[in-house]
Amino acid sequence: MAAQYYKILTAKAPVNIAVIKYWGKSNEKLKLPINDSLSGTLNLDDMCATTTVAVSSTFQEDELWLNQEKQDIESAKSHARVMLDEMRKLSKLSPKILQYKVHIVSYNNFPTAAGLASSAAGYACLAYVLGHLYGIEDSTQLSRLARMGSGSACRSLFGGFVRWHKGHNHETSIASQIVNETYWPEMKVLICVINDNKKDVSSSEGMLRSVQTSSLISYRSEKIVPGRMDKIIDAIKKKDFDSFAEITMQDSNQFHAICLDSKPPIFYLNDASRQIIKICSIINTHFGQNKVAYTFDAGPNACVYLLEDFVPQFVKLIQQYFPIKDGLGNTKKLEIRGQQNGSTDLNTDIGSLVDQLQSAGIRDLVNSVSYLISTSIGSGPKLVEDHMNDNILEPQI
Ligand code: DP6
Repeated sequence: MAAQYYKILTAKAPVNIAVIKYWGKSNEKLKLPINDSLSGTLNLDDMCATTTVAVSSTFQEDELWLNQEKQDIESAKSHARVMLDEMRKLSKLSPKILQYKVHIVSYNNFPTAAGLASSAAGYACLAYVLGHLYGIEDSTQLSRLARMGSGSACRSLFGGFVRWHKGHNHETSIASQIVNETYWPEMKVLICVINDNKKDVSSSEGMLRSVQTSSLISYRSEKIVPGRMDKIIDAIKKKDFDSFAEITMQDSNQFHAICLDSKPPIFYLNDASRQIIKICSIINTHFGQNKVAYTFDAGPNACVYLLEDFVPQFVKLIQQYFPIKDGLGNTKKLEIRGQQNGSTDLNTDIGSLVDQLQSAGIRDLVNSVSYLISTSIGSGPKLVEDHMNDNILEPQI
């Protein structure tokens, strides 16, 4: 009897958070960006997409399940379909195997709705696992394919700090690693997951609107990003946090200024986001150098890059100003998910900072932040070991 499965593979892929944002496309279909962008890849253990793909001669159709919901992979809008077709075109496997249908199951270990770069991790994972299935394993090639799913996904194919070169066509618009995940081990990332039920304008929709209506967007992509890119790469290579933070915050601010400059204007930040910006600014002024760098994507969640030694103080301040109150009026401290090392040091003194924040008008915003994720810079995607040799029954062909 012919074997049922040709192969089953599982992979994990990381989230990335841009410090020089990708915003605007020159080609909607290929997802070619109007400017280069640069991001830090976050640790797989704390936040990742996990995707399993199975191929079988018995499957009737290609299927995709995302967070337990079946997706319409045949719809004209399906980026997964585009990616799958492209993989089959590029693969050197036998035509017989390429005919077999695949079932793909993917989930994120963080809330998709929280707007935390879930599509970047998801499409990077899909490209990686399908690439390993179809014998396309070169990271640059996979980065190109991941981009067809979601632009920012091309950066999640690499660990450390990663630059996406805008290029001028499908071949040249690729990501590459600037430094790997071990280069700057003191660099940490704290994500403040903000409680907000509002349905945001999606990134794809938002950037199209900005390209069509904002005059600031081309000024940024042509005149600002090239110089900013050189400076931030230099700061990363020199481990110069002060400059890294300065550029990161400027770029986040400018991206949100472009959103406001779009018609109708797009508002991704809310009161809690703005309060985090104020807190970070007061801290940086207090120390006379940047200790924290906030950045916001197409949603209200704050991603804060900071060095390890400042994590306990910053966490304590955020916990102080964003308390959780339950229905009975009991106050709880914000929960910290992910890495616990040092982030909960009870002896940390934040007294003088609290005085300054208080006099600058910072007040408690109850139930505005849902929880914190404490993480670091991590590696690119990985195959999940314990699955690798499972169920590999070669078909009789
Ligand atoms: C604000 O990659 O989600 O997070 O290519 O249309 O799928 P599409 O957009 P997407 O955009 C991400 C935008 C951003 C900035 C960034 O990650 O660089």
